[in-house]
Amino acid sequence: MDGAQLGSRACSTEVQGLGSMRSAPIRLAAPTLGEPEERAVLDVLRSGWLTNGPVVQEFEKRYAELSLWRHAVATSSATAAARLVFDYLVGAGELRRLVVPDLTFCGPAIQALHAGVDVLVTDIDPATLMLDRWAAPAEGEWLMPTDYAGRPSRLSGPKVIFDSAAFHGPFLKRRGYAAITSFYANKVVTCAEGGMLLTDDPELAAYARRARLHGIAIDAHGRDAKSSGGLLYDVEVLGQKSNLTDVAAAIGLAQLARLPELLRRRQELADEYARNLPAGAVPAGGEPGRGSNYIMPVLLGSPAERDATVAALRRAGIGVSLHYPPLTTLTALKGRIAAEPTPVTHDVAGRMVSLPMHGGLTRENVREICATIARALEP
Ligand SMILES: Cc1ncc(COP(=O)(O)O)c(C=O)c1O
Repeated sequence: MDGAQLGSRACSTEVQGLGSMRSAPIRLAAPTLGEPEERAVLDVLRSGWLTNGPVVQEFEKRYAELSLWRHAVATSSATAAARLVFDYLVGAGELRRLVVPDLTFCGPAIQALHAGVDVLVTDIDPATLMLDRWAAPAEGEWLMPTDYAGRPSRLSGPKVIFDSAAFHGPFLKRRGYAAITSFYANKVVTCAEGGMLLTDDPELAAYARRARLHGIAIDAHGRDAKSSGGLLYDVEVLGQKSNLTDVAAAIGLAQLARLPELLRRRQELADEYARNLPAGAVPAGGEPGRGSNYIMPVLLGSPAERDATVAALRRAGIGVSLHYPPLTTLTALKGRIAAEPTPVTHDVAGRMVSLPMHGGLTRENVREICATIARALEP
């Protein structure tokens, strides 16, 4: 979990806003759910088939079509999807070192370490806040750029695995080996918990389909259909237990049906922020219109200004977070990862704050948030 949801809940119920009395805090993140999602879940519950079934298959098919990758394999999380890619490449003798940016979520890097892969942490481009450039990868070296804030990274090549956890469109054809995405509760498209592995490599896809269910040769749905034949199944690879449920996939499918609306709403909010933020608070990473506006990160002039801004927003009952505490600051990773100097990441992480961004936010909320920041920055 990246703390975004937790941050969004930590407020009192009656809050003094700017000139108006709000009855509730402004959450940092919140899912946009309604009748379509409720109906879809009920249908699955009443069908009697809860997991590894036809709804998961439909979700995979739809996501592959939309995202323009040939194969989509649903998993219990983006982190689990990353682990499947790493295990496959390690098993094939291809992956020994993974290069990741310092400004990213820790899940994939932790899984790389569990898979026996060396992790090299590198700095970000100050303009995009991403790992956007790298010389040709050495033998055994693969790159995992993060699509920061839901914007597609510009890195491409046969040894690129995109951490697309937060990127849900507008989709474009990407040149890389694979991508992982997340449907965690705070994401643009959610199914509470879930992920997807995307690739054009049929062998990786076939491996992942097995390895997400212990390594058993056919999934539960397929096994049931064939059960009149043999009772035996084989375990061909040492897998995980990281499959998705049909209940979750049903939520995901309903969300995909309204993806254009979800993206449009976030774009409107990003535009409202751009119009109202005071001069001392700048949208971080530029180009907020490029991608899915998963979060609204803003850079302040100094760590002191950031801390004052965070304190003022919290006092006003407005959820905040940081995407992300740099990997090089995380205790469990120290001594386990190699790191190049990452001054840009540390400068940015010291001056940045993520502001509320979700479909339930109103334009007035955005204006109130911006006015609160302006007051915090007054000399
Ligand atoms: C960049 C990034 N990578 C990976 C993840 C992990 O996703 P999941 O919770 O589905 O494993 C997140 C989740 O917030 C993320 O932001």
